[in-house]
Amino acid sequence: MYTQSMSVPDEAGSRTVQPLPSTEPADRMARFDACIDADGRIEPQDWMPEAYRKTLVRQISQHAHSEIVGMLPEGNWISRAPSLKRKAILIAKVQDEGGHGLYLYSAAETLGTSRDQMVQALHEGKAKYSSIFNYPTLTWADVGVVGWLVDGAAIMNQIPLCRCSYGPYARAMVRVCKEESFHQRQGYESLLVMMRGTQAQRDMVQDAVNRWWWKCLAMFGPPDADSPNSVQGMRWGIKRVSNDELRQQFVDATVPQAKVLGVTLPDPLLKWNEERGHHDYGPIDWDEFWHTVNGNGPCNKERLATRVKAHEDGAWVRQAALAHARKQEQRRMKEAA
Ligand SMILES: [Fe+2]
Ligand SMILES: [Fe+2]
Repeated sequence: MYTQSMSVPDEAGSRTVQPLPSTEPADRMARFDACIDADGRIEPQDWMPEAYRKTLVRQISQHAHSEIVGMLPEGNWISRAPSLKRKAILIAKVQDEGGHGLYLYSAAETLGTSRDQMVQALHEGKAKYSSIFNYPTLTWADVGVVGWLVDGAAIMNQIPLCRCSYGPYARAMVRVCKEESFHQRQGYESLLVMMRGTQAQRDMVQDAVNRWWWKCLAMFGPPDADSPNSVQGMRWGIKRVSNDELRQQFVDATVPQAKVLGVTLPDPLLKWNEERGHHDYGPIDWDEFWHTVNGNGPCNKERLATRVKAHEDGAWVRQAALAHARKQEQRRMKEAA
């Protein structure tokens, strides 16, 4: 997963954090604040302000949706992977993403929202997921670049979430980050192999990098100045590092990797700034970002339709599992009687 959505509202027009309702009981509120100030963890059984709960449900469910929608662009390539080894790696990666979705839906359920409600919101187009998955994976090189850059950006974003103030989310992220690290490395390694191949393979890698670079920078979400939710998220210990700082970390980490790989990052303004101790980079096209977030990217409709169909096709499996559980329960009751 994947992150930009974390600071993006589900419904248009609600881009600011709602103030805390003044009716929250003062003593509980004081205990909650003290726990946050002491960098403690809030657990499901603890009292929490409604706005904190709502923010977490929105963020964790968007994150879960991003994991399962993120399976689609790469899943397209499983049957076309160039070797058995690459196919096995890709299957493992796509399966991991499904697992990340499961951990995250489970973490969100501890906040009192059912998985059915969350999935329904996704399928009705009311919930967001990371917009990066609304772009197509046109060639095999895209699979490598998605691993290197998209999963790489996800790791950058998710490592601070391992210290999130909400316990179940933080704990889920520890395992997710370990698996994301494998995703990033497999992508980079597959690109290294292609870059040592033919000119056509090198061109294919460069073309994929050109198409994904700017979209990956946008994954970190709007600039800090346009991201009012971030301030409250920081106060609550949900968000630890700002969008712009994470983006800068990503650029600084990726430039030397691109050099080793032998690809050019498609930004004429990208250069080391001695004074800042960071790389400068060019302006991001936020109009395109919002256009895609708001449902008009190249694959938004296709992704949602695929998800809905998969859910409907799997209905019999869910029904069978429930019927089996009911039978087991009846048998257990009979034996106990
Ligand atoms: Fe993931
Ligand atoms: Fe991943």
